[in-house]
Amino acid sequence: MAYVVYKGATVYFSENVYEPAEDSFLLADACIDYIRDNSRVLEIGTGSGFVSAVIRANKKNVDLIASDLNPHALNCAKNNNVEVIRSDLFGGFKPAHQFDTIVFNPPYLPTGDDERLQGWINFAFDGGEDGRDTIRRFLSEVNQYLKPNGNMLLLVSSLTNPKEVIRLMNNEDFNVSTICEDSCFFEKLMVLHGKLDS
Ligand SMILES: C[S@@+](CC[C@H](N)C(=O)[O-])C[C@H]1O[C@@H](n2cnc3c(N)ncnc32)[C@H](O)[C@@H]1O
Repeated sequence: MAYVVYKGATVYFSENVYEPAEDSFLLADACIDYIRDNSRVLEIGTGSGFVSAVIRANKKNVDLIASDLNPHALNCAKNNNVEVIRSDLFGGFKPAHQFDTIVFNPPYLPTGDDERLQGWINFAFDGGEDGRDTIRRFLSEVNQYLKPNGNMLLLVSSLTNPKEVIRLMNNEDFNVSTICEDSCFFEKLMVLHGKLDS
């Protein structure tokens, strides 16, 4: 099985599961900077469990749970010692303002009907026609699961129209800042930090 070693974490990944890439590394770095020790964290769409495993390796006493809807990802994340449940976004959680931080590297590629991939791996990439289908759903629910003063870390791409994502976040009462960026081959990646107005 293939694996990646990053900042103290060794993470295995398998077929039908998103292979950790530049977007995963950028979000993991942001998590190390912004997640506090002794806090409660939810990672939506954990894939192999890479980001959660890096958080675990670098933060003390973090109460961390992850989710994904791809069953192959669940197996993979469990093998990487990440506690994970099967859930479509927040479907498996109670809206009880329970997390200090929620992180998500969503499927964000603009994808037409004829561009979809076969099988579960499509969920790693397919952001719908404008790349923001899953992001819109996520943002319409996320603040019900965050504590007052909670934080959100969301990976976005220049392909996803970050200005529009920021507008959506502002509409949901988040103060937003861009905390890190990385230019890749065909896109610019960034992590948006959303802090709830309390
Ligand atoms: C770009 S991959 C990121 C994987 C991993 N977090 C990383 O950074 O390497 C997006 C992940 O979100 C999952 N996903 C997509 N839509 C989802 C949904 N509605 N609910 C839960 N997970 C979802 C996919 O299965 C995939 O594992």
